[in-house]
Amino acid sequence: MNPLLDRLQPYPFERLRQLFAGVTPSPAYSPISLGIGEPKHPTPPFIKQALIEGLDSLSGYPATAGDLKLRTAFTNWLSKRYGLALDPATQVLPVNGSREALFALAQTVVDSSRTPRPIVVSPNPFYQIYEGSALLAGADVWYAPSDPARNFAVDWDSVPAEVWQRTQLVYVCSPGNPTGAVMPLDEWRKLFALSDEHGFVIASDECYSEIYFRDEPPLGGLEAAAKLGRDFRRLIALTSLSKRSNVPGLRSGFVAGDAEIIKRFLLYRTYHGSAMSGLVAAASIAAWADETHVVDNREQYRRKFAAVTPILEPVLDVRLPDASFYLWAGVPAAWNGDDAAFARALYAQYNVTVLPGSYLAREAQGSNPGRGRVRMALVADTAECTEAARRIAEFAIQAPSA
Ligand SMILES: Cc1ncc(COP(=O)(O)O)c(C=O)c1O
Repeated sequence: MNPLLDRLQPYPFERLRQLFAGVTPSPAYSPISLGIGEPKHPTPPFIKQALIEGLDSLSGYPATAGDLKLRTAFTNWLSKRYGLALDPATQVLPVNGSREALFALAQTVVDSSRTPRPIVVSPNPFYQIYEGSALLAGADVWYAPSDPARNFAVDWDSVPAEVWQRTQLVYVCSPGNPTGAVMPLDEWRKLFALSDEHGFVIASDECYSEIYFRDEPPLGGLEAAAKLGRDFRRLIALTSLSKRSNVPGLRSGFVAGDAEIIKRFLLYRTYHGSAMSGLVAAASIAAWADETHVVDNREQYRRKFAAVTPILEPVLDVRLPDASFYLWAGVPAAWNGDDAAFARALYAQYNVTVLPGSYLAREAQGSNPGRGRVRMALVADTAECTEAARRIAEFAIQAPSA
């Protein structure tokens, strides 16, 4: 067996299951889960139709690189969304959702033959795949904390110079899961300078880029590079239809950026066998070409957040994020930072599931930056999310029972 498998940590939902084991939630309340960050709005009918129309493609093997029509759908979207002109032949590649791509990219770029062991820098808290990908690629992980005092910006300055020297890959999550924070241009400038100095690759995970609450759409990594007059060297952006188009079951996304990395990534993927099915490609081409459903989806989230956030703000340390579908809330001081105890008692008394923040982060440099926070995914419909918020607000003003 691959000994690196033993370095993997239990997934947060497994830990949540254990936390709730033996708890019988109050029968007075119907169950509401804000625990899992999985889109629940209906899939637009035209995407389902395009999938059906792609059925004829079943009789042939798909190409790992995707065909030109698919790749042009990606570059057209990048042009509309960010004003960028990428070459469909060399600068984009289809992936089966951003999750597998985040994983496979680490296997492609990390050189584990180096001593000392290479480092992958991850935000903390973070999307759990970053850690597992790094560990299975034979790297160590350095956890860079997000700073609540600066809208949860990742504190790149806290990473020691010796760590940067060993760093081969940095994951950026913007908009962030779980914080919802968008990385501003100045932070990009800083990270690009560090990448120039130390030669690491930046993987910019942007799967929440279309769910935002301010007028200005979130800045993308490639867009930031262009604004700073740079090319895309050592930069790969990853994006996905899952959240944008409510198709998490489709497994469709793409990567874009540095043509050299894309070339090596294609080689890796050819052997890995991760070509996108022709059906999925047909549905994806239709989805990337349409913005009407994306605007409508965003409006649904905006209405939901506008209804829920004011109910929670008076009782919890929480505010409207820049983007994403999460609220990243501080638990009341009476809980002494025990987010797991808060989540467990909320579940027992009010049958509402939230995810303890400490499960989404690691203890590093003496603290767990997820401690004392919970993540609420506002993926259910507005009525259900509002009802959950009312119960949480009622719960939050009570003192914890001993
Ligand atoms: C930050 C982040 N990145 C990537 C993904 C993966 O999404 P998908 O594989 O559906 O594109 C998720 C899913 O929850 C996520 O939260």
